[in-house]
Amino acid sequence: MNFYGRDFLRILDFSEEELHYMLAMAKKFKEMKHEGQNHKFFPNKNIAILFEKTSTRTRCSFEVAGYDLGMGVTFLDPSGSQMGHKESIADTARVLARLYDGIEYRGFDQKIVDDLAKYSDVPVWNGLTDECHPTQALGDFLTIQEHFGELKGLTLAFVGDTRNNVANSLMAMSAKMGVNFIACGPNELRPSDEIINKCRPIAEKNGSTISITSDVAALNGKADVIYTDVWLSLGEPQEKWGERIELLKPYQVNSSLMSGAKDTAIFLHCLPSFHDLNTSIARDVNKVFGITEMEVTNEVFESERSLVFEQAENRMHTIKSVMFLTLYNKEEK
Ligand code: CP
Ligand code: NVA
Repeated sequence: MNFYGRDFLRILDFSEEELHYMLAMAKKFKEMKHEGQNHKFFPNKNIAILFEKTSTRTRCSFEVAGYDLGMGVTFLDPSGSQMGHKESIADTARVLARLYDGIEYRGFDQKIVDDLAKYSDVPVWNGLTDECHPTQALGDFLTIQEHFGELKGLTLAFVGDTRNNVANSLMAMSAKMGVNFIACGPNELRPSDEIINKCRPIAEKNGSTISITSDVAALNGKADVIYTDVWLSLGEPQEKWGERIELLKPYQVNSSLMSGAKDTAIFLHCLPSFHDLNTSIARDVNKVFGITEMEVTNEVFESERSLVFEQAENRMHTIKSVMFLTLYNKEEK
């Protein structure tokens, strides 16, 4: 296996063995971190992390992982740099590739991160695009593996906006890991045929299935993991709230939905989440539509089955694994 110099743009770019190796390396890094072992392997390297959309977990995970590996980290967003308004992303990337050893990018079109990778000769890591969120799926599968021990044969149900970036990466990761994937949401928000057609043969090869349903009852007795995400993603127009609430209300993860899953099922969410009225967006939505909880109820979010904060921590360990593997040159002394 050779990761050195490679980009991390989407899950499907990596083989099953490579993804397993990334998870194993993340587990090692998690142990090192918890035991307080020094792992500053790259004292002479620097990375730039570019955010065209807001972030808490992904930004902080790249920063902490970078510092833990001994690297310098520069954060850039459109408000504090020329990026996007005075200089194109492609030009910014080519400048940064002269200065830095690796570049993270979070933004809109997948083509932008693909182009960054094409035009820069250092590893580019995808920190979320409209199409996918591959570092998220890696962290999620570390969480699932830690909890259940074995991945193969489990069933993950993504409930809600099943054509969003997080769902796409989870479908791909499930296919690669031999996990059955159920996309459960309204037909209007069905995953694209393109992604289904790419993932199905991979799942089949690994002994699992990809199914698409609009019927919540189809999850009954099947799901080991119930996963949901916000009903309106970053970059989508606020005017869509009304339409989304109408479409997605039947897919709210609440105690009744959870009781249909296996008794041993866990709840996951990439976060941030609208499970109460403690955010300004949730309060604005509440004023107009009268709802107090959206994609998940507070009861489920705060329940023992919810592993969302372990999941958030695992973002950092898996991102560290991706950066380490793509920056580490075995030939270098
Ligand atoms: N899950 C996730 O990507 O969170 P942030 O948007 O806070 O980075
Ligand atoms: N689907 C969400 C994920 C956030 C981590 C979004 O794109 O906003």
